[in-house]
Amino acid sequence: MSRVALVTGGTRGIGEAISKALKEAGYTVAATYAGNDEKAKAFTDATGIRTYKWNVADYGESKAGIEKVEADLGPIEIVVANAGITRDAPFHKMTPDQWKEVIDTNLTGVFNTIHPVWPGMRERKFGRVIVISSVNGQKGQFAQTNYAATKAGDIGIVRSLAQEGARNNITANAVCPGYIATEMVMAVPEKVRESIIAQIPAGRLGEPEEIARCVAFLASDDAGFINGSTISANGAQFFG
Ligand code: CAA
Ligand code: NAP
Repeated sequence: MSRVALVTGGTRGIGEAISKALKEAGYTVAATYAGNDEKAKAFTDATGIRTYKWNVADYGESKAGIEKVEADLGPIEIVVANAGITRDAPFHKMTPDQWKEVIDTNLTGVFNTIHPVWPGMRERKFGRVIVISSVNGQKGQFAQTNYAATKAGDIGIVRSLAQEGARNNITANAVCPGYIATEMVMAVPEKVRESIIAQIPAGRLGEPEEIARCVAFLASDDAGFINGSTISANGAQFFG
């Protein structure tokens, strides 16, 4: 029987590419999303991958959603905490709401996604935890104190979980994408985006599939001794 993989935010952008790559690699995939029903339906129609809707910022919703996925598909053995948002503003303009929304979704959302599946992974003595961090968690970014804090936090989470899970054959790793061509980056004003691309030695944005391939590798049996690591995929923008 194929292993079950859960991808949060798995219907759009980087998550969509991850869901497809894991399906291609033979896993049974469940993809979650927050509210864009139209995109989720189009995704399922195109891929056959089941989708589930819940807010990763809410522990109760996450736990109930994960129980439903496990009842439908079987125990989750691979979890990809990918869902994330930006609320960019220079620190002097950042509101407490912008701070809280990003912390709740990107950081607490990672706890809410991993915590309900962790006991089962420990019992079965197998698990793959993959968190999508960011180059901006490694280097910081103007107007992203909230976002950079969460993405740096992801690295702390996987380094700690790696030490807790290793004896039970559970690995926890982060992928740190650079700027990737998704709606998140397209939301940055065009002029600012052009100046960002000019600072990337590769001279281009990354493609979601370039991140998905890193995730598929970390999920595989071949990656069993890679634990607590980060894979940077950023076109040589930063060496973290
Ligand atoms: N470094 C230094 N100074 C900067 C700067 C930078 N990167 N960006 C802007 N500034 C300066 C401006 O030149 C301006 O200076 P003056 O006051 O002297 O004119 C000052 O900061 C304030 O700029 P704005 O008035 O334009 O600020 P704003 O309140 O309108 O905010 C912004 C604009 C939100 C910062 C906008 O520029 C922006 O979206 N920047 C991009 C931030 C970014 O890279 N986000 C990444 C999103 S994608 C992602 O997060 C995915 C991932 O993981 C990689
Ligand atoms: P995206 O295109 O904006 O897609 C975000 C996905 O996350 C969507 O499926 C969205 O669901 C879901 N989501 C958002 N908030 C959620 C919530 N509260 N609960 C459940 N699902 C939620 O984003 P992306 O660019 O693919 O980014 C994916 C991840 O990669 C994020 O963690 C991001 O920080 C990280 N990352 C991105 C880049 C980049 O350059 N794009 C670089 C580094 C890291 P809906 O469709 O319902 O809205």
